[in-house]
Amino acid sequence: MPKPKTSKKSAASLPPAAPLAAVVLAAGQGTRMRSAQPKVMHKVANRTLIGHVVATLADVGADQVVAVIGPEMASVAKAVSPHPSVEQTQRLGTGHAVLQARDALKDFKGDVLIVYGDTPFVTQETYARLREARRAKKAPALIVLGFEPKDPSSYGRLIVTKNGLERIVEFKDASAKERKVRLCNSGIMLIDSQVLWKLLPQVKNKNAKGEYYLTDLVALARKAKLTCGVVDGTEDELLGINSRTELAVAEALVQARLRTAAMEGGATLTDPGSVFFSADTKVGKDVEIGPFTVFGPGVTLDDGASIKGFCHIEGAHISGGAIVGPYARLRPGAEIGPDAHVGNFVEVKNSVLEAGAKANHLTYVGDATVGAKANIGAGTITANYDGFNKSRTEIGAGASIGSNSVLVAPVRIGTGAMTGAGAVIRKNVPDDALALNAGAQVTHEGFAATYRAKKQAAKAKKA
Ligand code: UD1
Ligand code: MG
Repeated sequence: MPKPKTSKKSAASLPPAAPLAAVVLAAGQGTRMRSAQPKVMHKVANRTLIGHVVATLADVGADQVVAVIGPEMASVAKAVSPHPSVEQTQRLGTGHAVLQARDALKDFKGDVLIVYGDTPFVTQETYARLREARRAKKAPALIVLGFEPKDPSSYGRLIVTKNGLERIVEFKDASAKERKVRLCNSGIMLIDSQVLWKLLPQVKNKNAKGEYYLTDLVALARKAKLTCGVVDGTEDELLGINSRTELAVAEALVQARLRTAAMEGGATLTDPGSVFFSADTKVGKDVEIGPFTVFGPGVTLDDGASIKGFCHIEGAHISGGAIVGPYARLRPGAEIGPDAHVGNFVEVKNSVLEAGAKANHLTYVGDATVGAKANIGAGTITANYDGFNKSRTEIGAGASIGSNSVLVAPVRIGTGAMTGAGAVIRKNVPDDALALNAGAQVTHEGFAATYRAKKQAAKAKKA
């Protein structure tokens, strides 16, 4: 029988990527932050450093994530949950740290990505390139993300020969010649789980620091006749954060990325450098954002929303055609409907402004529902708090609230109803009614002129 023809595999038909687990090293307290909080709990773009790492790992499709944390780091465990955390009680080195995750991953077979909790800006694309390198024919068992920093200072050096990555030498243990190598270890590594758990227990701590170095895995893999590889990363992405100064550098870098992403997504930013986003800000197409605006966590700007300058916005959803600002403050639970307007010195909290509703000047709208096309006069306040409880104000569609009104919640202003200027509304107003409670006006003819004359005469006498 003739042999069946073997079909030629195209170069592109690689095996599917192996399942992925990630170990996030975060046991260091980060003393240079001079903080009571663990380093990885500090925030960039309103997201913790470790939160950035976990978010990217989700994007890259990690099936399991385990964080290695230090003692008394309940806040970090909470930040990574529902992913599990394991405690490294003594900080005996990066190799020892990874070993703490072995039990949590005992049923996992695939590739293990090792990352640092304080190196949060490695992109999804870079992690994908590491995975891609593990899919190649005769793929190396272990791949290190390397980079050439401007100042290689104390990074571990990657020793590469024609056989690929031969070993990693830590700066403290390196010879003068090895220290001249510019290709450095970022610390990020992708490795076959079986190789990892076989070799890691063999790592010793006979080195300058007396630590169990994860980096020793490379030499151990070579001894076991396995190949190791390097994928190149950029210094920007690999920025580690050790101090408040570096935190500020990271903030600037991430803000630049977020601004670019917003603009590439179709938003106009008049002065990008003065707009601050949160990592989770969602910005639609044809959104306009004026200068000096800050977005806290949880903001969604639908297509066609317009934010004038000088606004502070968090936990808010702004619909298309809505205009917010200048000088508006939207707090959590602000739901701004299509074509609604929120003007200068207006604060909105936990309230809905339905389509076309307007609160244009000097107003506090808290715990309220404002019906479609209702108009709230300048200086209106919803008095939502009696010192004990928060209560709601309901304003019907098409209602008109007079300037300088106080709406004492709980209270309902009916559909199409009106309130007079300066009214204090304590009782519900029926649909289409007008509610007034200002006292009748008293007019004293000529009073002002007499008063001025008297005062001027007294002043002249003194002089
Ligand atoms: C490590 C690498 C070095 C690399 C550098 C990149 C080793 C031995 N060295 O050195 O080659 O150039 O990172 O930044 O891996 N951690 C723990 N438990 C420990 C020790 C560390 O969780 O016992 C965590 C730290 O919190 C940190 C990360 O591991 O997130 C790296 O630790 P660090 O002490 O900064 O390692 P380096 O000495 O900088
Ligand atoms: Mg370090």
